[in-house]
Amino acid sequence: MEKQLVAVMDFGGQYSHLIVRRCRNLEVYAELIPHTTTPEAIRDMNPSAIILSGGPSSVYADNAPVCYPEIFDLGIPILGICYGAQLIARTMGGDVKHTGMREYGKTKLYVDDGSDLFDGILGKTTVWMSHGDLIGSLPADVDIIAHTAGSPVAAFRKKRIYGIQFHPEVVHTIDGEKMLKNFLFSICGCDPDWSSESFINSAIDEIKATVGRGRVILGLSGGIDSATVAVLLHRAIGDELTCIYVDNGLMRKNETEEIVCTFKDNFKINLEVVNAEDRFLERLRGISDPEEKRKVIGDEFIRVFDEAAARIGDVDFLAQGTIYPDRVESAATSDLASRIKSHHNVGALPEEMLLRLIEPIRDLYKDEVRSVAKKLELPASIVKRHPFPGPGLAARIVGEVTPDKLRICRDGGAIVEEELKNWGLYDKTWQAFAMVGDDLATGVLGDERSLGHIVTIRAVESVEAMTADFVRLPYDLLEKIGSRITNEISGVTWVAYAISSKPPSTIEPC
Ligand code: XMP
Repeated sequence: MEKQLVAVMDFGGQYSHLIVRRCRNLEVYAELIPHTTTPEAIRDMNPSAIILSGGPSSVYADNAPVCYPEIFDLGIPILGICYGAQLIARTMGGDVKHTGMREYGKTKLYVDDGSDLFDGILGKTTVWMSHGDLIGSLPADVDIIAHTAGSPVAAFRKKRIYGIQFHPEVVHTIDGEKMLKNFLFSICGCDPDWSSESFINSAIDEIKATVGRGRVILGLSGGIDSATVAVLLHRAIGDELTCIYVDNGLMRKNETEEIVCTFKDNFKINLEVVNAEDRFLERLRGISDPEEKRKVIGDEFIRVFDEAAARIGDVDFLAQGTIYPDRVESAATSDLASRIKSHHNVGALPEEMLLRLIEPIRDLYKDEVRSVAKKLELPASIVKRHPFPGPGLAARIVGEVTPDKLRICRDGGAIVEEELKNWGLYDKTWQAFAMVGDDLATGVLGDERSLGHIVTIRAVESVEAMTADFVRLPYDLLEKIGSRITNEISGVTWVAYAISSKPPSTIEPC
């Protein structure tokens, strides 16, 4: 069965991804495509619908983004939103005015024709507007189907091409979902067929078709993306998959045991655990600079991974947990596998190792990965686990990474996570951990004063880690964490709580 697609043509609007998300939430698969996509390429994609996004430009601006006008002749239903609508209006020969006035925020929309796009929306409704230019007049064969006090043409239709001046994808447009449903299901004849389950089935078919009898390796970190890829690949190709897990000694407490238990024991996946703690600690010895530490860790990781891949031998594919936002940012193609020199992707696999890259979850947003992971029956400990940085606990150890500071940081982090879970706050927190540096403070052990480490607790709330605020944890919980850390971890005399936001701080201390 051919995959149903809604092509969302991106004109740079802040809500472009939201349009894609709204379609997918209605169980219709949608993807962003560049506004420069040719009519031939669109015909090859065979989309059920095209949506033109909004954008920051005025259609009058120099270099204003445009699409090929021939896409309007492909016979595919089109919905233009805001800038997209103005572009359609202009292409049809309408008049788009530059008034210098803005219509912004919640606005009353008066429906003039409720027969198709606005079916079920009576008289007036509230929509979200954000535009400066105005559609004035349109040729006689275009129907005006809604207006507002400020926009005589807030929505129009010519055959199956629609333009709307407002944003149905924004929650403030109270009938926005109804309008999108009318467009997708009644006007375009889409079927709601996109779900975690349908994704899993088609991903497995696609992997089988691409990989055939080839052998695949995957770097498994224990994070949700690589974990999901591991289980998907295993369902598709079984023992042709080998996962490589590099234990660099910088992992969270019990992480290696949990990974072995989940993937090797429960899922029966071929798993090569490489114990490389000594190598990493040796290379980190004497290094205090955070960037230098990161570089050394990345470099050593690649060496260890290379050696493991070479040991396994006869490998055809390298799998990666690339997800949709990564791919959109790098404007990559949507092929499941593309031939690469593997060192371009993993860093520095040997030149002669020519692998094909396979990225089974390349079309998913993070929350979709979580739904798929749940459906694949990955344990909650992986699906809901807080993000963990690539350099591991080294990102939480200020100054040189020593075995003693590692022990304190790891055990402290485990106590923080455990207590948050006991208080029902773990799932509500973006990240929470313990960090440690070289500052020492006086404490009293027995009757003796002695110097010990200061452990700082960091717990933050965030959306996608771009900004973050410290969590107002209850004092009783902080007290419990503090007393456990000083009682259970030797060499710690003080516990502090980090109360700075991002910015100016970052989430990880280094
Ligand atoms: P910062 O510390 O920059 O972190 O506020 C933002 C988010 O990214 C994670 N992080 C990393 N993740 N490799 C990763 O894969 C890294 O080098 C790295 N550094 C930070 C951090 O845990 C937080 O979620």
